[in-house]
Amino acid sequence: MIVLIGFMGAGKTTVGRLVAAKLGLPFADSDQVIEQRTGRQIRRIFAEDGEPAFRDLEHSVIAALLASQDTVLALGGGAPSHPVTRSLLAGLPVVYLRVSFAEAMSRVGDDKGRPMLARPDIRSLHAQREPLYASIATLTIDTDPLSPPDIALKVLEGLRLAWIVLLAGAWKPIHALRYCSRDHDRRGMHAGRDDARLQRRLQPGGKRARRLRARRA
Ligand code: S3P
Repeated sequence: MIVLIGFMGAGKTTVGRLVAAKLGLPFADSDQVIEQRTGRQIRRIFAEDGEPAFRDLEHSVIAALLASQDTVLALGGGAPSHPVTRSLLAGLPVVYLRVSFAEAMSRVGDDKGRPMLARPDIRSLHAQREPLYASIATLTIDTDPLSPPDIALKVLEGLRLAWIVLLAGAWKPIHALRYCSRDHDRRGMHAGRDDARLQRRLQPGGKRARRLRARRA
């Protein structure tokens, strides 16, 4: 599972598709899945049910997607604001496609399919979300000057690197574990156990001692 997060216009869907094709993984976009499942456009869900109902729906769709087959998954820009969605992302490779406010606005224009763009506080929403995205990201890519294929390449490179760092991190405890068991040997813990077994066998009341006494008699 690879998850792409970021503000509207960051390129999550376009880049996600390219990354999925490179990796031979299926691609899913949470907004598209919501639209398929409800048979309604995001804009209509916002207008008819309101934003809180959309957020609940968004969370349950994402939870189901995260629990299913390995996918490159692009999340709607507001999805990481849901605390339970955030907790589900812990431990997964989460790629934050960072876009400046000005660049985001120039990419999405006044897309009527994105109801959040009509909010008067859209600029401060962008500012509030930036640290939130960064806090859950395994990898952050500044997308402003890049084309979607270049961003996709950076995602793949970055994930490879993150993987190596992860493996290096995991190697330490494994090595420590091995070292500990060798250390136990050196401190004679196994020998100690064998000594105890031998002593038990040779105890005056023990089987071996009785056998030896019987042989001698
Ligand atoms: C939203 C972003 C949209 C969509 C909905 C709400 C947001 O997805 O989920 O309009 O709150 O930022 P994109 O980020 O794919 O545009």
